[in-house]
Amino acid sequence: MTFPISFLNKETSKSDTAVIGVMEGNNLLRSAKDFDKMHNGVIAKYLKSQAAFKGKNGQTLVMSVGMSDLKRVILLGLGEKNKLDVVGFEELGGNLYKALQGAGAQNVDIIADDIEQVGKKVSMADSAVHLASGMKLKSYTFNKYKSEKKEADKPTEIEQINIIVTANSAAKKGYAIQEAITEGVFLARDLVNEPPNTLHPESYAEKIRDELKPLGVEVEILDEKKMAKLGFGALLAVGQGSIRESRAVIMRWNGGAKLKKGEQNPIALVGKGVTFDTGGISLKPGAEMDLMKMDMGGSAAVVGTMKAIAGRKAKANVIGIVGLVENMPSDRAYRPGDIITSHSGKTIEVLNTDAEGRLVLADAITYIQETYNPKVVIDLATLTGAIMVALGFEYCGAFVNNDTLWKQLSEASDATGEKMWRMPLDVAYRKEVESEIADLRNLGNLGRYGGACSAAAFLEHFVNEGTEWAHIDIAGTAWWKSDKATTPKGGTGFSVRALNAYIAQNFEK
Ligand code: BES
Ligand code: MN
Ligand code: ZN
Repeated sequence: MTFPISFLNKETSKSDTAVIGVMEGNNLLRSAKDFDKMHNGVIAKYLKSQAAFKGKNGQTLVMSVGMSDLKRVILLGLGEKNKLDVVGFEELGGNLYKALQGAGAQNVDIIADDIEQVGKKVSMADSAVHLASGMKLKSYTFNKYKSEKKEADKPTEIEQINIIVTANSAAKKGYAIQEAITEGVFLARDLVNEPPNTLHPESYAEKIRDELKPLGVEVEILDEKKMAKLGFGALLAVGQGSIRESRAVIMRWNGGAKLKKGEQNPIALVGKGVTFDTGGISLKPGAEMDLMKMDMGGSAAVVGTMKAIAGRKAKANVIGIVGLVENMPSDRAYRPGDIITSHSGKTIEVLNTDAEGRLVLADAITYIQETYNPKVVIDLATLTGAIMVALGFEYCGAFVNNDTLWKQLSEASDATGEKMWRMPLDVAYRKEVESEIADLRNLGNLGRYGGACSAAAFLEHFVNEGTEWAHIDIAGTAWWKSDKATTPKGGTGFSVRALNAYIAQNFEK
């Protein structure tokens, strides 16, 4: 579903639905009062007759009217004064979007002047921008595989949303940036939702090129031949059981100042892109294995972030790399017991072929460091079930080797509502993944206890001394089984907004 959102300084006369804001205690916003006055006070009167509606944040009440084109007025509960941050406005927008859909609204005017009153240090323009952004984020659908419905069976769709604010030109500007970010989120969701028979490493690599090249991102695809030459023994081992060839894709956005000679690249993002994880020879149980199409969620976050920053022409230099493989059992699959040699030269004893993500990431992390010498490396991966045991579906886990980087990430997390919890790195975990017969083993020696921590420690063995590094385990947040305020169920696009904010806040000043 796509519909335009416009910011206007006065109402249209064509809308079938008007939305007006009501604060807790049923105080109408000033703009809502004006609207009510224009309509002879019917709204205030109606409100008095509806005892259940209290103006609490997110509450909605649909009031049918018959005034020329206007069919309904939706009263939107805003809650108390001075409460909402930008994330709060987005959640409000998401809830409003649901109500609009439920009411069958098509052309909508949202009377939003004054709405910043319920905000906590958010300007009028930003209040409107994030309300709009929340609606857009919530409107995402993935229905390309649904057969066409007959015209008569189609639900009514929203055609146009107008947000009426006096700060309309500032809001319009702000929303353009937000919309580019949302496009990145939508791409990440699309990639995660795409089924594994159509999204495999080769088609995925091409999709990345097709999406990002037109935006000015340089895209380089490494095929198996090139990776074999480079000695990507870990990544290639994971992919060798599949009929689909593995790929690595490097993305470069050069929006910042040209690097001086010897200057480090500022930042590299690394993503796990297992397009389907059967577990390999260490086969997963059958129940819900279909969900393992989302095992490329980390790579989707990287690709989505590249799209977001290119789309808004970020003044920063950002490098991305994703390792794309399919983890399949077959007669040529890698086995438990195999010892493989990673691109770093470190040998790895494979004890479980289902602990494949860390192998893919190891080679990608080594390659990006040796090729681009980044100051900061952030990897994203649906790496362990253990992080879900620890944090559930609300927070992702962040393993960060530098306190400043953690502070920056946690600020970006707070600013976007993509919740992040710091997890421990420790030499004891690093020891857990040392092998008796090779340099490393791909499984901690405590079994599933602390599994997210030993996985992070495994990756730490591939991070150069002095590199600021964060590993973000998004196994619990890349896919949600139920709706949230601004996120429909399915692929979430989680991390795109936080990474974008991290880049905006730290590299574009
Ligand atoms: N892709 C999985 C982790 C995962 C599980 C992501 C559930 C999303 C939802 C990963 O490759 C995996 O299989 N991890 C194993 C590691 C174990 C074998 C050490 C796990 O978590 O069980
Ligand atoms: Mn696995
Ligand atoms: Zn996996």
